[in-house]
Amino acid sequence: MVSTHPAGVQHFGSQYLPASSTSNTSLSPNQELLPLTAKRNSHDCLEIGGCDVTTLVKQFGSPLYILDEETLTIACRQYRDSFKRYYNGESQVLYASKAWSCMSVCALAASVGLGIDVVSGGELYTALSAGVSPDKIYFHGNNKSRQELIFAIESRCTIVVDNWHELHTLVELALEAIEQGTSSASVATPSSPVRIMLRLTPGIECHTHEYIRTGHLDSKFGFDPNQLDDLFTFVSQQSVIECVGLHAHIGSQIFERQPHQDLAAVMVQWMSKAAGYGLSIKELNVGGGLGIKYIESDDPPSIEEWVKPICEVIQEACAAANLPLPKLLSEPGRSLIGTACVTAYTIGSSKVVPEIRTYVAVDGGMSDNPRPITYQSVYRAVVANRLSAPLTETVTIAGKHCESGDIVIKDAQVPKTEPGDILVVMATGAYNYSMASNYNRLPRPAAVIVANGEANLILQRETYQDLIRQDRLPERLKNDEG
Ligand code: LLP
Repeated sequence: MVSTHPAGVQHFGSQYLPASSTSNTSLSPNQELLPLTAKRNSHDCLEIGGCDVTTLVKQFGSPLYILDEETLTIACRQYRDSFKRYYNGESQVLYASKAWSCMSVCALAASVGLGIDVVSGGELYTALSAGVSPDKIYFHGNNKSRQELIFAIESRCTIVVDNWHELHTLVELALEAIEQGTSSASVATPSSPVRIMLRLTPGIECHTHEYIRTGHLDSKFGFDPNQLDDLFTFVSQQSVIECVGLHAHIGSQIFERQPHQDLAAVMVQWMSKAAGYGLSIKELNVGGGLGIKYIESDDPPSIEEWVKPICEVIQEACAAANLPLPKLLSEPGRSLIGTACVTAYTIGSSKVVPEIRTYVAVDGGMSDNPRPITYQSVYRAVVANRLSAPLTETVTIAGKHCESGDIVIKDAQVPKTEPGDILVVMATGAYNYSMASNYNRLPRPAAVIVANGEANLILQRETYQDLIRQDRLPERLKNDEG
């Protein structure tokens, strides 16, 4: 917290800028608070991707998600290149699109060679619409509907099977298609077996928020590893599915490296066990989970520091078990896109509660960033139109929703603010837009992607018409008399 800074030391919003002496490509985005292209321009304003943030707000409105293309592509390349450097076999990084699913982000990740992890028919549709090749799409989820499974089979993506119900449904759908032929079946006949992976629960504990831990045994995701015998026996007997790999994900916003190394070792043991059932496991997916810096004291490992030991453990364990190296997959979300985006708000009203606190309200809140109210997540902010002003005030940044808990940042250190100032909350790329809602019927903000001084809209701001688009008014409720 800034308030713990030694007394008498002056702090400025510009302290959050990435070190300008270092070349952008050598910084690991997840270890920064602001996007790598962030600068202070001659007007003392925050500039991202060569665009003045205050000008962007004038042009595209407020609140505004501002996504820095360079930060996102550098993170993608660092994952891709680290696996190439440290892993002797084939590798594939997938972008976990749950962090922010929209066509432009999927297309950008794919342009750098990444595949896409999707968890619903909607995310699958988005990735396909963005032109992502289905052979690089992996479909997760603990309760995929029949329609979603049919969509997945027809699109020819790889299905990451989570449980027995899904496995049986999938076999049934694939058999039905083959027996009945394309014309009458509910699913088009697959020309080859349906490619699947199996998601297993590794029973690995890690230190993160309870809601974003998934790898411990008491989790709703994945097959219980005690059932491996039955699972491998069943899967090895099915001709309509081909089990190409195993998957596990232990949680999110993790700073420790040991849990993923333990996971890598456990996964090679599973692979070795599968071989005993005649299943040749060609791919291992170690999931995502690398954390990012939200506040000064957060100290996650770099992307490279996360990738390297995982590769080493898999290589050593495969050599020891005399197994060929599998294709190694990982699926980060937050550490790819989290730092690449900021949210710009406009400051409005304020309220001084004597002796207690000062509230400063912005024009968004829990509808565009539900993480503080959901996980008590902590963020940092700067006033973008006065970047080098000393941080003299401690205020609580409130959202505009009818909910007392709608607080964006408690006890933020800011310069003296005025209505109309542009407040930029940092590191909002992951799980902000994707978890955004229309609570209180607020239209969701627009998003722009910035690069080399140019800004392009990637998500249009919702309008009041958008808000009532799905509303239907039964005849008897239409009240023309008033
Ligand atoms: N793979 C699977 C199967 C996952 O469940 C997740 C995240 C990821 C990959 C990507 O994890 P990441 O690299 O982003 O940590 N809404 C929460 C985060 C939920 C994470 C869910 N699964 C938040 O705002 O913190």
